[in-house]
Amino acid sequence: MPARPRRNRAGPAVRALLRETTLSPDHLILPLFVHAAAEAQPISAMPGCFRLGLAGIVAAAREAFALGVAGVALFPALDSALKTSDGAESLNPDGLLQQTVRALKAALPDLLVITDVALDPYSCDGHDGVVVDGIIDNERTLPILAAMAVAQAQAGADMVAPSDMMDGRVSAIRSALDAAGFTGVGICSYCVKYASAFYGPFRTALDSAPRFGDKKTYQMDPANVREALREVALDEAEGADWLMVKPGLPYLDVIRAVRAATALPIAAYHVSGEYAMLKAAGERGWIDYNGCLLESLLCLRRAGADMIFTYGAVDAARLLRKS
Ligand code: PBG
Repeated sequence: MPARPRRNRAGPAVRALLRETTLSPDHLILPLFVHAAAEAQPISAMPGCFRLGLAGIVAAAREAFALGVAGVALFPALDSALKTSDGAESLNPDGLLQQTVRALKAALPDLLVITDVALDPYSCDGHDGVVVDGIIDNERTLPILAAMAVAQAQAGADMVAPSDMMDGRVSAIRSALDAAGFTGVGICSYCVKYASAFYGPFRTALDSAPRFGDKKTYQMDPANVREALREVALDEAEGADWLMVKPGLPYLDVIRAVRAATALPIAAYHVSGEYAMLKAAGERGWIDYNGCLLESLLCLRRAGADMIFTYGAVDAARLLRKS
């Protein structure tokens, strides 16, 4: 008797019954870029994404929340005059990011607000840590990251998300948050973050590309997966609440390996370059953007991601509502 696996795909009901992986807006986090100007400014390498003013951010978050998107991840695009080597503006209680968090939590208290902890948006060197004599100085960076996380928690952030890849930052941030009374503020650690060429469009959005060198002394080598398990063990021990793998689709094997190594929730970041490729090919009529977006996100879930940070969160949420 020949095997007939097609019987299990014969119609929509049986396919729905046997589907192993789900994707819903609950699984999605929308990254947003805030700037000081009131007008929205399109980001050329990320069609459909904008640098938004305060009111624009609240409107975008409201739209996402109404569609069921779980949360937003905020990134500030700063005026270059505010960038310094120690990123001091990141600690300003009335700085752009802190103001945005307050406005969002006032307008949408149930929306999860996640803030980025790293120096690069605030750094005149475009690096995630403090540069001393051309070297990214781990120990000088840690207290700044810790203070930045506390400033964001004071503004009302639900989760802080260190994306800097300095050693020991999760425990430095956890201790500082606890000492300041923010035991309820979680840490989404960008735990397994690779030195990736797929971040290009994001760096144009924030004008945050490294002014010299690259990020290979702190972000991971794309060739490595055992090293990811070492980062996982450290961030777990240091008190991370969620672990992120970044980028997304080229690293499905890494997500799978991390899934097997931890009981913590895993976030995948479907990064700017991945989004830009889908948009660009879609605009040319070479691929179906909607179909490829949903498939990409579903595959990240299948690999083991609990949640996905994606610039396509609103598009996907809309499509999922219809389907
Ligand atoms: C930097 C940071 C980057 C991204 C998120 N936080 C870029 C980088 O490391 O240079 C990239 C996100 C994306 O490409 O969508 N702290």
